[in-house]
Amino acid sequence: MAHSFVTMNLLLYMAAFWHLSLATNNCYIDEDTRVDCRYTIICEQYAGSAPNPSCSFDPYVTFIIKNSYLEYLTAGFFGATNFDSRVRKIQAVDNTWAQIEESSIRYFTKAEIADFSNNRIQHVKNYAFKNLLSLKNLNLSRNFIQTLPSGSLMAAENRISSLIVVDLSYNRISNITTNAFKYLSNLMELYLNYNNIIFIEDNEFGSLNSLDGIFKHSSIAFINLQNNNITAKITENTLKGLENITFLDLSGQRFNDLTENAFSGTFQKLKVLKLLNVSSNSLKNLRFGTFRGLNAVEVLDLSRNAITEIDVHVFHECIALKRLVIDYNQLKSFNIEQLISISPALDTVSIGGNPIECKEIVRSIRNLIDSNMQKALDTIRIVQVTSVDKIYHEDNVHGIKCGDADYTNSTTKVQEAESQSNISGLSVFVGISVTILVGALIVLGAYLIYKLKSGNMHSESRLQMRHSMDTSISDFQGNLLN
Ligand SMILES: *[C@@H]1O[C@H](CO)[C@@H](O)[C@H](O)[C@H]1NC(C)=O
Ligand SMILES: *[C@@H]1O[C@H](CO)[C@@H](O)[C@H](O)[C@H]1NC(C)=O
Ligand SMILES: *[C@@H]1O[C@H](CO)[C@@H](O)[C@H](O)[C@H]1NC(C)=O
Ligand SMILES: *[C@@H]1O[C@H](CO)[C@@H](O)[C@H](O)[C@H]1NC(C)=O
Ligand SMILES: *[C@@H]1O[C@H](CO)[C@@H](O)[C@H](O)[C@H]1NC(C)=O
Ligand SMILES: *[C@@H]1O[C@H](CO)[C@@H](O)[C@H](O)[C@H]1NC(C)=O
Repeated sequence: MAHSFVTMNLLLYMAAFWHLSLATNNCYIDEDTRVDCRYTIICEQYAGSAPNPSCSFDPYVTFIIKNSYLEYLTAGFFGATNFDSRVRKIQAVDNTWAQIEESSIRYFTKAEIADFSNNRIQHVKNYAFKNLLSLKNLNLSRNFIQTLPSGSLMAAENRISSLIVVDLSYNRISNITTNAFKYLSNLMELYLNYNNIIFIEDNEFGSLNSLDGIFKHSSIAFINLQNNNITAKITENTLKGLENITFLDLSGQRFNDLTENAFSGTFQKLKVLKLLNVSSNSLKNLRFGTFRGLNAVEVLDLSRNAITEIDVHVFHECIALKRLVIDYNQLKSFNIEQLISISPALDTVSIGGNPIECKEIVRSIRNLIDSNMQKALDTIRIVQVTSVDKIYHEDNVHGIKCGDADYTNSTTKVQEAESQSNISGLSVFVGISVTILVGALIVLGAYLIYKLKSGNMHSESRLQMRHSMDTSISDFQGNLLN
């Protein structure tokens, strides 16, 4: 009995020892993907040493640390690694670290990318990434981060950060202090989408509701705040520092009323903004002044709001507007004809899911074809009427959802709408422009030849022609926008 007990203990010890010796040897080079000195080191559970093959050029090592079940990541964790200066990218995969302590990753001073996405991080302490003086891209997406202390993204005191891209999307951030971004003078892209930001706090001036100060010295070009919970007024001051911004996504907040100054003149400093997304809010109306100064904006997404009418003159300063998206609002009519006349660059209006009568949309398409017939070839401009979703199982015109049961239950309403639409209702025409769309020219050229040959044209083939125009133009637009 005693004998077998001893044997068992011995076996257990041996097993433990075997495990330990494995644990010290838990890093390896992924030989399958290695190209000379561009290779990946994978460490599981603990970070240890790995062979350092001799290099003919500056090594580029991707270091993957996975399955570490510690709760706190501290500097000691990477104490035994012997390839630190070779690491250009460090990636954390399936770890349980809840807290990243100060200087945790300090040895990897040449790392340019830190991808800590998809872990379980809750707290990033001040100077967690201290010493990473070359870090350009920090990805903390898909963690459980709630707050960001002001020094959490800093690599050194009194030193300008090298960060260019910071991804904090899909966390639980509800409270951001401006100081967290203040010294990121090189930041160009900031992803804060899918958090729970209600307001943004400006420590310096003690004022709430302001992004002012965050990006003051920055060259930021891209901010994605999609799907947060911002209720604050966005004012001109809010966006003051964002002179170089080209992409601003404010969709999915709780902005509702534009009548109380919110949004009036808000965007006027954003002289190079190309895309503004305020989709999925609760906007009810658009004020004159809302889009003031947006001279460079090419794509404006106002879809999924509660807008009941739009006087297209609110867009009068948007002279570069190419694509207006107003799907899923409460619009009963929309004057595309007038919009085209004030938007020289317009090529797409997306309008599905509004209670606009289907026959109005049919009429518009017919108008487009007819005016195509009448215009001289070299002044042609095509404006496409479309929708973000193509819906064929409900009332639709070429997939553009239209009409509304409610719309017809009051005769006076219908009459009113009809007389209105006769003057200014939904209609599409071909405006005068020097921009010649190549695809349209080819199709029209072909059509002219066809017309010369065959004389009269049947309306069905007109429709076909319009269809093929749409196709060639969508492709063309796709290229433009990409
Ligand atoms: C961050 O990582 C996620 C995957 O976890 C990826 O989808 C996302 O594109 C990355 N962000 C950036 C800015 O590269
Ligand atoms: C936001 O966080 C800071 C500290 O990170 C705290 O001092 C402040 O009270 C918080 N504000 C709110 C409204 O929670
Ligand atoms: C905006 O961009 C220009 C040119 O790229 C640059 O000179 C200027 O410093 C930038 N502005 C800010 C606030 O970074
Ligand atoms: C948005 O913020 C409000 C408080 O202002 C809160 O009651 C609500 O639950 C938040 N919504 C989400 C989706 O977190
Ligand atoms: C605007 O944001 C919504 C979701 O929030 C998205 O579905 C849509 O594609 C965005 N629009 C553009 C033009 O990027
Ligand atoms: C249509 O009728 C319903 C029920 O009678 C009413 O609630 C709705 O407001 C009406 N719609 C219009 C546009 O008048």
